[in-house]
Amino acid sequence: MNELDVCLAKVAQKFGTPSYVFLADAIDGRIAEVRATLGQWFDLSYAMKCNPNPSLLHWLADRVDFIDVSSIGELRLARQAGWDTARASFTGPGKRDAEISEAIDVGIGELILENLREAVVANKIAGETGKVQDVLIRLAPSTVPKGFGDHMAGRPSPFGFDIEVAEEELPQVLALPHLNVVGLHIYSGTQCLKPHAICENYRIFMSVFREICERHDITPQKLVFGSGLGIPYHPGDTPLALDDVAGNIRNDLEGFRAEPRFAGTKLILELGRFLVGESGYFLTSVVAIKESRGHNIGICDGGMNNHLPASGHFGMVIHRNYRMHRVGGGQDYQKYSLVGPLCTSIDRIASGVMLPTLAHGDIVAVHSSGAYGMTASPIHFISHTLPREVLVEGQTITDISRVFDI
Ligand SMILES: Cc1ncc(COP(=O)(O)O)c(C=O)c1O
Repeated sequence: MNELDVCLAKVAQKFGTPSYVFLADAIDGRIAEVRATLGQWFDLSYAMKCNPNPSLLHWLADRVDFIDVSSIGELRLARQAGWDTARASFTGPGKRDAEISEAIDVGIGELILENLREAVVANKIAGETGKVQDVLIRLAPSTVPKGFGDHMAGRPSPFGFDIEVAEEELPQVLALPHLNVVGLHIYSGTQCLKPHAICENYRIFMSVFREICERHDITPQKLVFGSGLGIPYHPGDTPLALDDVAGNIRNDLEGFRAEPRFAGTKLILELGRFLVGESGYFLTSVVAIKESRGHNIGICDGGMNNHLPASGHFGMVIHRNYRMHRVGGGQDYQKYSLVGPLCTSIDRIASGVMLPTLAHGDIVAVHSSGAYGMTASPIHFISHTLPREVLVEGQTITDISRVFDI
């Protein structure tokens, strides 16, 4: 067995399946890679929606500069995990008044304003407590280049101020006395594997930032570049070449930073899956093999209830298998459908996947599962026991399963 499989088999033996395994060294390596290629321009903000495991959050607190939360529950988790609220930003288009109030009360670094209503509410709440709250204004550009898995702008969208209304609405935000606009934020597309598309998008960001800052005379302390950096999920996906992104965007970023208005501006990459996604594996065991009308069906102990994205129901138009392998390898490859334990035909994590002959008790490892895994899944459907979550740091294997108490 190779080193990875020895580790995965050990986790499965110790903690059982289904389980999620996160490899700390791999995350460290990824953070180092991002800092080495893009760190000369950007600080890093971890979008915790992609993996809010409390122990992982705690572990990341010394490794990443900022954290982005998208609910008051996430902010509470981040605080419990040791993050100083001053390092947190709060995105999300549907912030409730009580969430805004609590975030201001506990000293959130910045609220990311997604619309005028939020601005008015935040201003009122801050005023009532005698505070001036730092905010960033989220903008939705009119275009997103081709190549992103999901678009949050470039069409009707709930996210941020459409660039078309910025001229009319931003002065209203800027005039609010209890808000301090410290910068701008754009997150317009996710999951892109094409360096050119990412660079083109960053050029759009820079042009929007430039135009808005000039028009409204903003000298920003912070500008957030929603990263869009994608990871390979499916067989045949080419991993994103970060060097190409850096090489291609270098001159634009250098020029941008040389402009007097942006000389003192902190540029921030807000990202989730690129930091932790590829370092995670989902382990599920084969409970039974059924040969049904000429098809081999592997019935597993964890499926869509634990890993919705792998089942293709998380924003995918056409289901494509995640990369996966049988732990320990094997021979005599056969074609399988892999399904989970739910009583629904949509609980399928692979169709027509070629794997070594499977038998009861074999473990399948689904790759790229460190982000948008368990907490992006309907874990309570049919009340199966929850998967374990396990952190591997060198030779140390720790159960970091979260307690759902918020
Ligand atoms: C505002 C915002 N920031 C950050 C992210 C993280 O995206 P990713 O995990 O693709 O890096 C998302 C994802 O949807 C988002 O909506």
